[in-house]
Amino acid sequence: MTMTTYKNILTAKEPVPGLNGVNIGVVTLNRPTVLNALNHELMEELVAALSEHDKDDTVRVIVLTGSERAFAAGADIKEMSDETTVSIMLKDRFATWDRIRAIKKPIIAAISGYALGGGCELTMMCDMIIASESAQFGQPEINIGVIPGAGGTQRLTRAVGKYKAMELILTGRPFSAHEALEMGLINKVVPTELFLDEAKKLAFELSQKSPIALQLAKEAVLKSYDGTLSEGLQFERKNFYMLFSSEDQKEGMKAFIEKRKATFNGK
Ligand code: CAA
Repeated sequence: MTMTTYKNILTAKEPVPGLNGVNIGVVTLNRPTVLNALNHELMEELVAALSEHDKDDTVRVIVLTGSERAFAAGADIKEMSDETTVSIMLKDRFATWDRIRAIKKPIIAAISGYALGGGCELTMMCDMIIASESAQFGQPEINIGVIPGAGGTQRLTRAVGKYKAMELILTGRPFSAHEALEMGLINKVVPTELFLDEAKKLAFELSQKSPIALQLAKEAVLKSYDGTLSEGLQFERKNFYMLFSSEDQKEGMKAFIEKRKATFNGK
């Protein structure tokens, strides 16, 4: 099967050592000039590439990564800054993100550099997380007058508990890979030069297992975690979209683009 080529991501298959005809899929976010900011086109391509690996019988496990400097610095603020509540609800762009939840094979995130906002949320959509010691996580949306809109308030809270999640989401402060490990948000921290190799090693190890058992195990673990997650996600998205009626959202995003400090007036 030949792999599709994309504009904002790279996709490849790598053979699993010792297993003839068995591969892992590797998907790399590749919009380096904007630190892999997640615009709509990139997300559509990402979903297509993940689905392609998911349907490929030679692929057992998928690794999702970015560059050493950035996994992703968030949803694309420039794409969103002029949206209104109505326009953002009509486009419902985060619906694309839901399609990642339908991927049946395990996805291992290999994270280095910035994993902020939507980048942190995309990381948390993966099933295991290997981080370089230079990785920097965070949900900084509050600093641009909005809130996480792609699962952050739900998944971070489930992973680290209410109080830590409140602190991180309400202050927007970044946190290190070591802090993420301590909180139980990620699986392992490794020296920067090893983050991708380590994730691939884990993918190779999982590739030795029964692919059907892997998929059913993933499905069952996610089930235990689901509960009212769907309601939570819908709730979060509505609130995110509502913020596009506020002056603070306009000011926060404009200030980012103009490289100045935002002044919020609570309107
Ligand atoms: N959207 C669009 N462009 C972005 C971006 C984003 N989220 N993050 C970085 N960029 C762009 C910058 O505008 C800049 O472009 P120009 O060269 O054209 O000016 C380029 O990437 C490099 O960025 P910086 O010059 O800012 O690099 P830095 O090293 O000084 O700072 C950073 C890096 C701390 C990550 C900083 O870029 C930053 O704070 N980015 C925004 C982080 C953020 O707020 N993310 C949340 C977005 S909202 C969201 O994700 C909603 C959701 O829940 C889905």
